[in-house]
Amino acid sequence: MQVNSQPFLLFTGSSHPDLATHVAGYLSVPLGKVALGRFPDGEISLQIQENVRGKEVFVLQTIALDPHAYLMELLIMIDALKRASASSITAVVPYFGYCRQDRKDKPRVPITAKLVANLLVNAGATHLITMDLHASQIQGFFDIPVDHLSARPLLVEAVKSLNLSRLVVVAPDIGGVKLTRSYAVHLGVDFAVVDKHRINSSHVEMMAVIGDVKGKDVLLADDMCSTGETLVSAAKACQEKGARSVYAAVTHGLFVGDALSKIEQSGIQTVLVGDTIPVQERCKQCKKITVVPLSSLLGQAIHCSVTRESISSLS
Ligand code: R5P
Repeated sequence: MQVNSQPFLLFTGSSHPDLATHVAGYLSVPLGKVALGRFPDGEISLQIQENVRGKEVFVLQTIALDPHAYLMELLIMIDALKRASASSITAVVPYFGYCRQDRKDKPRVPITAKLVANLLVNAGATHLITMDLHASQIQGFFDIPVDHLSARPLLVEAVKSLNLSRLVVVAPDIGGVKLTRSYAVHLGVDFAVVDKHRINSSHVEMMAVIGDVKGKDVLLADDMCSTGETLVSAAKACQEKGARSVYAAVTHGLFVGDALSKIEQSGIQTVLVGDTIPVQERCKQCKKITVVPLSSLLGQAIHCSVTRESISSLS
């Protein structure tokens, strides 16, 4: 008798069908069948339409653009898989939404990153694969294994193809120093930092540039671009200090509101962005945006997980 002929199953919610299809293609597996719908009052209804008993299961869902719905869909899917006796449930969350409130930095604020971690574990997730968390300490909010991937290796390759001869990597804020240093190390160049002061969630004010950018090709490296304020203001600060060109590399492109038109009008030449978040039509129209596919990295992480190989070697 053959037990579990297919070693694992890959399911997805409705957050990012393109990415899920590419990951499934990389792994040469079909996506698991799920009936996903809505009750007349808007609640999510769901049924897993495959036998998952005793199987290793992966659920890919990115928590962006409509974060409440996609988070709830993910929780409901994990609950269904747990109740159907899957042997393990790995949540593959390329963009971990609700990550920005990760500490109590003001009175009476929530720690939503911890709340989401609790929800995922309580629903039944036994393992998390995610990418470029807003703060890597969020891994510690989970008491299950977390594999924290970095898009940096693929974004660095894309940067190299730009052939920038006087490159310096710049962190657009102090919190980005660790990420920026890793880009600088892998590109073999210096790094600098912009001292950002955030006025509110959609406005930032740049203070000083710490380090030398004069006459250089600046690469701003960041985990995400949301309103675009951070990148555009950092680009302006670098240009005022004499940078000869400005590029950017970000893992997660939320591009909310008028972010893209701000980028279009800015001195930034190109933003290299991962595809952890669905590439909206208006992104495809924007000449300054170059999408770097990350499905191979997610596919490799799932493969390593199934074959019990090291995932840290992917960074
Ligand atoms: C901040 O700590 C993050 O790393 C990003 O710089 C920030 O979230 C980007 O947001 P926005 O595009 O709205 O400035």
